[in-house]
Amino acid sequence: MIIKTDIELEGMQRAGKAVAGTLKGMREFARVGMTTKELDDYGRMLLDGYGAKSAPFFTYGFPGATCISINNEMAHGIPSARRFLQEGDVVNIDVSASLDGFCSDNGASFVLGEDIHAVGKLVETSMEALYSAIGVIRSGVKISEVGRVIERVAKREGFTVIRNLGGHGIGKSLHESPDCILNYYDRYDNRRFKKNMVVAVETFLTTGSSYVNTEPDKWTLTANKGGYCAQHEHTLVVTEDEPLVLTDMNEIVKK
Ligand code: CO
Ligand code: CO
Repeated sequence: MIIKTDIELEGMQRAGKAVAGTLKGMREFARVGMTTKELDDYGRMLLDGYGAKSAPFFTYGFPGATCISINNEMAHGIPSARRFLQEGDVVNIDVSASLDGFCSDNGASFVLGEDIHAVGKLVETSMEALYSAIGVIRSGVKISEVGRVIERVAKREGFTVIRNLGGHGIGKSLHESPDCILNYYDRYDNRRFKKNMVVAVETFLTTGSSYVNTEPDKWTLTANKGGYCAQHEHTLVVTEDEPLVLTDMNEIVKK
């Protein structure tokens, strides 16, 4: 979406607060021994409280309100009453929803409890890669710069990026133009960010895998070489200066 009116901006800001508040609440609620279904049910309740509707459920028929992906799962993990969260798991929660016709999308990985698998560095690097990418985005900059920055930060710490997933435009629907905001530099991609364009920028870092495969459940995307995955995602508005991040947790805390 290219934002053209204050009504659109305010709508996107409200949707951003709903998904960011839900993600934050779910992170705080997550405990060792809980099932991913319990965590998802809590997330659905939070979304309801904002008057927001789960975008994957309503748009794609995803069997859950939020995507909860663990360890070797990169994305679209299905909440399950048989999947128990364990100490040291890398838990990724991705919350995307629509509120009054405006969509927003954010996600974060975190280590649950004690970091017994020593994966904290992967999670920190993913977050650093996201903020480094956000730091270069402004109108006129090539979209491929996002991939260049994310891959550079990942490689510096010895991690790998997934090549068959990417961020995306967002607005009236969850996935809009521009698609394929990749995690690696594609020198043939000449598209540029435009002022007031809304995009969801996301990282896909792993401990060695470069691709994801779809599991037989038809949703869960797992790392092709196993290991661990981390993802961080924000929805933002492109400006002539620093982007306006619509899903910033810190904004929620300040409120
Ligand atoms: Co997402
Ligand atoms: Co997304």
